[in-house]
Amino acid sequence: MLANWSKTLCMGALLIGAMGANAQTPNPQALAKQAGIPWPAVIAHRGASFDAPESTAPAYKLARDLGADYLELDLQRTRDGVLIAVHDDTLLRTSDIAARFPERKDKPVSDFTLAELESLDAGTWFNQAHPERARKTYAGLQILTLDEVLDIAEGNPAHKPGLYIETKVPKQFPGIEQDLQRKLSERGWLDGKHKVVLQTFEADSLALLDKVMPSVPKVLLLWVGEGSIEPKTKGTFAASGETDKAAWYAKQQPKDRAEFARWLDIAKTRGAVGTGPSAALTAGGDQSYMDLVQPWMNQLTHEKGLLVHVYTVDDAVDFKKVMDAGVDGIFTNRSAELLKYYQRPAKQSIDALLKAQGY
Ligand code: G3P
Ligand code: CA
Repeated sequence: MLANWSKTLCMGALLIGAMGANAQTPNPQALAKQAGIPWPAVIAHRGASFDAPESTAPAYKLARDLGADYLELDLQRTRDGVLIAVHDDTLLRTSDIAARFPERKDKPVSDFTLAELESLDAGTWFNQAHPERARKTYAGLQILTLDEVLDIAEGNPAHKPGLYIETKVPKQFPGIEQDLQRKLSERGWLDGKHKVVLQTFEADSLALLDKVMPSVPKVLLLWVGEGSIEPKTKGTFAASGETDKAAWYAKQQPKDRAEFARWLDIAKTRGAVGTGPSAALTAGGDQSYMDLVQPWMNQLTHEKGLLVHVYTVDDAVDFKKVMDAGVDGIFTNRSAELLKYYQRPAKQSIDALLKAQGY
């Protein structure tokens, strides 16, 4: 055991290492190193979900084989208690549930057993929505359990990405934080050697995650609106009369600097090592939200000793914009593009990697 003076010296060295040129601002790269998080981080949002159906085997295998640092997933629980990777509250958008279970099609994911969910086709919707990226082998893909995503993360001896796990609508799933702890522990992923980051929009879930997994890095996702940062101007898109959702979101701002800082303090006191703010995207679209990565916001976040991982950015013009603004990692549907931007290009093409996996 270290003597007290030695412990103090070590702590001091860590702190000095984490401080930048400005003595008030910790160096983000040193903060990332302390947390065991690559800098800058490539976080494969629902896998390589631009090129394959989100949260399915080809999406995760492709992200892994491209070299992403983390496979991102949204954690939910089946009616019979199995942890699975699904984003939406219902299965309408990403499966054939309307044809298979018409009378229950609007029910939440938690209404279905694992066997029912595994009987769904989670790939054909992608082929229909994106014919230019369709593959015959995507038809009939299954929803994955957390165990299966862990298998994929462990499955390439040349590159083992971490997992970046979000507790999705955690109030619908009481005890999911403990369930996750049990599963990760059972699989040996809490040994300190595996890369895991836990993320949530819910401050209460963050505190629960911190209680059961105090030494695993955690990130509080940020948003402007109900349950998160108070907006400058109250209102909803529906009531605004606007037609462009992305343009409406882009105008939403935190009430003031103090309100933004308050959420950084909530993140910090509930055990987070960073925040996950939204971005307003140049091309707009479904994933363009509030601009919560303005330079002053990232600066303040760093001053509080927190990292910034922004969601969800796919184009080089926005990679540059958010990196110039000072973020430390990016959630992306296009890992290949982000890896290229970070000058860590994959050795093989997307097509070659998918074919090698049988897709
Ligand atoms: O988890 C970060 C980002 O994924 C949050 O948005 O809705 O895609 O889960 P969402
Ligand atoms: Ca997510």
